[in-house]
Amino acid sequence: MKKIKRSVLIFTLITFFTVFLILYHLFHKVPSVVPEYVLTYAENQARNYPTTLGAYYFADLVNEKTEGKIEILIYDSSALGSEPSVIQQLQIGGIDFSRISISTLADIAPPLHVVQLPYLYRDSEHMWKVLDGEIGQRLLTSFEDSGMVPLSWYDAGSRSFYTTDKPIRSLEDLQGMRIRVPESSLMEDLISALGGIPVPMAFDKVYSALETGQIDGAENNWPSYESTRHYETAVYYTIDEHTRIPEVQLISKATWDKLPEQYQTIIMECAAKSAEYERLLWKRRTQSSKEYVIKNGCLVIDLSPEEIQKFRQASFPVYEKYCSDYMDLIKEIQNLK
Ligand code: GCU
Repeated sequence: MKKIKRSVLIFTLITFFTVFLILYHLFHKVPSVVPEYVLTYAENQARNYPTTLGAYYFADLVNEKTEGKIEILIYDSSALGSEPSVIQQLQIGGIDFSRISISTLADIAPPLHVVQLPYLYRDSEHMWKVLDGEIGQRLLTSFEDSGMVPLSWYDAGSRSFYTTDKPIRSLEDLQGMRIRVPESSLMEDLISALGGIPVPMAFDKVYSALETGQIDGAENNWPSYESTRHYETAVYYTIDEHTRIPEVQLISKATWDKLPEQYQTIIMECAAKSAEYERLLWKRRTQSSKEYVIKNGCLVIDLSPEEIQKFRQASFPVYEKYCSDYMDLIKEIQNLK
């Protein structure tokens, strides 16, 4: 009898303790930091793309440095719209942050056309010398009155042509081809100057345009060519590296003005760190994308220096149309060693 009583007592105690633990976990919430600002970040690339990973890194750093007071929600894969519409939203404070290609931005801040001129840089190192130096700083002042505040430069490598049915082995081959370009006036004029027919189109529409034959090709860097799976239909990739178009991480001016100074400083510092990170990822991804597409059927066409010279010469009208007021700056860039 005594034994039974003891078992009942132990059983009751265990039950009581278990119920207590369950209720404690259900109702006792650990107090968490409530963010003062919940901000949005638009990115048109996929989740695992270098620029998107840079955005996540940025968001985490800002959250950590502000002790949870700023939370940044990232919307990737064009979830918040195409670059031109994201720019409009940034200008009115509808979206707080984004990373956008200079191609689209230069139509709003025209001096920026200079940094996307065809065949401007000798190589990637030359471009970074320009952007990281005094010229890059000066160019960022072009965003004044744009409704956006630039935070950092991101890498987007160099762009080359890729086509579906006919490879481009010479400038001749490009004549009359319908080539998709970003929604950028300079890029449209570049394709026309090279003898192609420009078809401006949002980035996320290119895959089906290639598949349905609405266009004969497009142009982009290795990581974009791979991550969008354009290589599946446009198997010919012609390395002419006509442009190196950097990208900028931005914050809406409306949002910027709302933030206390100490948060503005944190945002600037974290943006610079995220850019360093993105540039590192960019190098790795360029290599792995190139290897991946070649393994999966991409046929690479290298052009001779003489042929590239023909492309370069044909692109001169673009310099005159967009940058005749900036010839000194162009010389300065070209002479930078
Ligand atoms: C690059 C760039 C994008 C841009 C795209 C395009 O991939 O990173 O921001 O939208 O080119 O060609 O439209």
